[in-house]
Amino acid sequence: MNKVREFYAPGKIIFGSESLNQIGVEAKRLGSKALVVLGRSAMKKSGALDRLTYSLKKNNLKYTIYENIPSDPTVETVDEGANLARKGNCNLVIALGGGSVLDTGKAISAMLTNEGSVADYQEIEGKGRKFQHKPIPFIAIPTTSGTGSEATRNAVITNTKLDLKKSIRDPWLIPEVALVDPELTLSLPPRITAICGGDALTHCIESYLGKKNQEITDALALHAIGLIGKSLVKTVKEGKNLEARKDMSMAAFMSGLCLSNSGLGAAHALSHPLGVYYKIPHGLSCAVLLPYVMEYNLPIVTKRLAKIAECLGENISSLSETEAAHRAVEKIKEMLSAVGIKENLSEWKIKEKDFSQLIKGAKGGSLNNNPRDTSDEDLIKLLYKMTGLY
Ligand SMILES: [Fe+2]
Repeated sequence: MNKVREFYAPGKIIFGSESLNQIGVEAKRLGSKALVVLGRSAMKKSGALDRLTYSLKKNNLKYTIYENIPSDPTVETVDEGANLARKGNCNLVIALGGGSVLDTGKAISAMLTNEGSVADYQEIEGKGRKFQHKPIPFIAIPTTSGTGSEATRNAVITNTKLDLKKSIRDPWLIPEVALVDPELTLSLPPRITAICGGDALTHCIESYLGKKNQEITDALALHAIGLIGKSLVKTVKEGKNLEARKDMSMAAFMSGLCLSNSGLGAAHALSHPLGVYYKIPHGLSCAVLLPYVMEYNLPIVTKRLAKIAECLGENISSLSETEAAHRAVEKIKEMLSAVGIKENLSEWKIKEKDFSQLIKGAKGGSLNNNPRDTSDEDLIKLLYKMTGLY
């Protein structure tokens, strides 16, 4: 088997409390006029936007603000933003927000140097064009701890005309700078904190277990799993605990490096159509699926699952490898339950008649990377468990 691997990461990573105040200095290194991409209002209310613009002004940078990015950015969201940046002669994009805002900023930076609409570049079978030119510099500033978009090479964009949600993907899309300031996550509500944390945890575990695992991401994944084990429950119960928030911000960033370089697995594969057809929050469906997928994979990746149990602080010294692997699954279930994530999605009323459509939507890269191959029957069994219909 060809084990040659590649690893990409942002050009510069700035991590720490109050690092947002460095944005002006960083931006000045990369451009003179920024398009600042924002979500609805959280960053305005918290004062983070004021801090960002103050730092830009102090460093003599001009900026245009593009705000109200929806939670599922569309082709139009990106194309309009690119037009605004073009009109304003922006030579730099800064995105401050959750995964959707970061994905939008990332896509806009690419569309400023590549012709056409972002729809032309989506991964749609037989269509997706390749980017011909390097994007303008992009700085990603996450305000949640989950998607890892600040470290990844893809952006998920909804194509309403084709009723599809598809990525654009290229190593060029990795942010030039990832600026991770854990203080920005202090005001996240408990439910969002739990769901985002579940997403980050799933990235780490799926990439560590996946077929494309590699030494660099293995190290990152195991460390991040340890951080999540230590601090996920704390961040949900004590939102203002900065030390715990730091752990989750670091873990989410590392989870982005893991997924971007080593891929994901069946939990992400099935979460994708569940988001498209039932609008289930991505992190929630990933988290609910995670223990079932781990159980399914257990016979193939027993040793790796045992290692996960160890990272989560379980004493496995007296256990067999298989027992230790089961402990990892149980520990994940306990953690998810402690943060209010239920064992199934019964309240979403997912219908059995939609299973074939959901399975069709799950096919592709993430599923192919799952350590244990999956037949349609296997996926149906997983869906029965996670929907609560069995
Ligand atoms: Fe994810």
